[in-house]
Amino acid sequence: MLTLLAGQAHNVINAGGIAYHTGQCAQDADPRVHQAFAAGGGAAGGGDPLRRQAVKVLLAAPQNAVFFHQVILVFGKQQLPGKKAVIIISNGKSTRANGYLSRTEEQLAGIRESAKINTALLDYISANIREGMSTAEIDHMVYEFTTDHDAIPAPFMYEGFPKSVCTSINDVVCHGIPSTKEFLRNGDIVNVDVSTIYKGYFSDASRMYMIGEVKPELQRLVQVAKECRDIGVQTAQPWARLGDVGAAIQEHAEKNGYSVVRDLCGHGVGIKFHEEPDVEHFGKRGTGMLIVPGMTFTIEPMINMGTYEVFIDEADGWTVCTDDGLPSAQWESMILITENGNEILTE
Ligand code: MF3
Ligand code: CO
Repeated sequence: MLTLLAGQAHNVINAGGIAYHTGQCAQDADPRVHQAFAAGGGAAGGGDPLRRQAVKVLLAAPQNAVFFHQVILVFGKQQLPGKKAVIIISNGKSTRANGYLSRTEEQLAGIRESAKINTALLDYISANIREGMSTAEIDHMVYEFTTDHDAIPAPFMYEGFPKSVCTSINDVVCHGIPSTKEFLRNGDIVNVDVSTIYKGYFSDASRMYMIGEVKPELQRLVQVAKECRDIGVQTAQPWARLGDVGAAIQEHAEKNGYSVVRDLCGHGVGIKFHEEPDVEHFGKRGTGMLIVPGMTFTIEPMINMGTYEVFIDEADGWTVCTDDGLPSAQWESMILITENGNEILTE
């Protein structure tokens, strides 16, 4: 990734889809950036080919401009052979400078460390989860392992969530609260969703576990949910759109006779637990935010055997259950979008 902007080297005002260059270029700014903006300062369609390309991208992705108040400028292959570069400017600041949506190298280093602990924690759960165990015992394992690694379980006291991990059995879609009264029984499928804060950086992932002898129809649900997650990850390529990811997941789930939960989605993660963008697991190709290098977000489709409708248990305000009581499965990866593809940070 080219680091194109230093601080507020370039200030851009986004006025109804027209980008104006208003600032001074820093001495150390990439000359190609300077060129692009210097040619502009005018209206849509004016200026040189680089500028026209920028405006074209802006107009083609109005959600980005309107929803995030930012300008996306893409240097196409023709202008810069072999290189694609992007500048995302939010309120006049480069995201590379403020880490909003696209991470700085320093942030990424911290996020990677957090994600390593998160994966080690999932491996530890995988090695120790047992039939007959209470979900409170899983919570205990998560708390001990995380704090032993000088980290904090992100769910703990997050918006009032009382435990360190979400444990979601059978018809529980997500956000199940561990309890001393709830036990893993033969034939259950359970999602264990762990999130870690290390030196202020966040990571998030989950896996499914099959307890004892699980019915083939449930095994298939767990398997297809995993495939949906993997297809989502494969589709989350730089310069694709978030709608491409949702559409690919939805197609695979529905082809297998399942449904995709609509009310909960994946999310940006790294600087905060939940941040932009929302990553829906259903949708239309060619719509939604442009996926750009430097983003870190989760893909975590919740796949239901029956209806996609869900409700939140009023008794605790957290537990999300399927409306029809049929089972649900979920696998979650957290990924980094790179120049040429993506990298799984934790899963
Ligand atoms: N880890 C969940 C996710 O994937 C969020 C859990 S929020 C909590 O986004 F408060 F329930 F922990
Ligand atoms: Co998540």
